[in-house]
Amino acid sequence: MSMNGRSILVTGGGSGLGEGIARHLCDLGAKVTITGRRAEKLDAVAGDIGPACHAVAGDITVDADRRAMIAGAVEHGGHLDGLVNTAANMLNGPITSLEAEKILDVFNANVVAGMALTGLAAPEMEAAGGGAVLFFGSVHTRRSYPGASPYAATKGAVEVLARVLAAELGPKGIRVNCLIPGAVPTELNVRAGLYDAEASRKRLEGMIEDHPMGRIGTPFDIAEAAAHLLTAEWTTGASLVVDGGLALGVTYK
Ligand SMILES: NC(=O)c1ccc[n+]([C@@H]2O[C@H](COP(=O)([O-])OP(=O)(O)OC[C@H]3O[C@@H](n4cnc5c(N)ncnc54)[C@H](OP(=O)(O)O)[C@@H]3O)[C@@H](O)[C@H]2O)c1
Repeated sequence: MSMNGRSILVTGGGSGLGEGIARHLCDLGAKVTITGRRAEKLDAVAGDIGPACHAVAGDITVDADRRAMIAGAVEHGGHLDGLVNTAANMLNGPITSLEAEKILDVFNANVVAGMALTGLAAPEMEAAGGGAVLFFGSVHTRRSYPGASPYAATKGAVEVLARVLAAELGPKGIRVNCLIPGAVPTELNVRAGLYDAEASRKRLEGMIEDHPMGRIGTPFDIAEAAAHLLTAEWTTGASLVVDGGLALGVTYK
């Protein structure tokens, strides 16, 4: 699979799955722009990948920053034909003690920002002759984990969004799909203050018995699927579960 000549914006490209996707797409020949709030981290990743990768620091919940991200990607790649809405945050807690303001914050980052970015990216993609948008769902919409209601609700929302926007943007030559990852050790739970990196990895490794494929995932497992959805020209409105079988709900003991 070649992505020569493609220009892709990857939000959350400074860590975890977004970083893995940025690395893989650049390996395939794309020009990739990565975004995130931590400029130093972002610059380090872009510097390590090389000139194919460009960093634009910013916050996806801020309109001016979103516009700068889109403009940065158009400038870096010469046009824009892919938007990968990877950035998201975890919010966990029992329903009896969740604060509405914090729930709104996580919806703002996980749902509203990706919608707004898609709205800004669509005219650029149409001008480029078409494109592809990818949203990130989660296995949390397939298996129910007590305490994860805010996060799971945002992930259910983007899955529906991908279907509606696929219908809306298809006539403009823009495909919209949702990738649904399973358990991959990243910073997601660490940034949310739930576990340190080691405890987070151990917790996910403790779920190996729930995986028919016998292991948890890597960023590359997800990046391969992202590249497929960005290039599969007749696939739109699809939800692709990439989780080693975790969502099948089997436990091997
Ligand atoms: N890892 C898993 O097991 C798993 C499973 C299912 C789904 N997912 C989904 O996969 C996606 C990637 O998550 P990950 O696991 O790779 O976690 P991660 O390493 O924490 O990556 C998330 C990225 O989003 C960025 N981000 C968060 N809020 C932002 C904001 N307001 N503005 C700009 N950037 C922001 C963060 O960078 P800054 O903090 O620097 O802004 C971070 O680099 C998420 O959508 C997540 O829900 C992950």
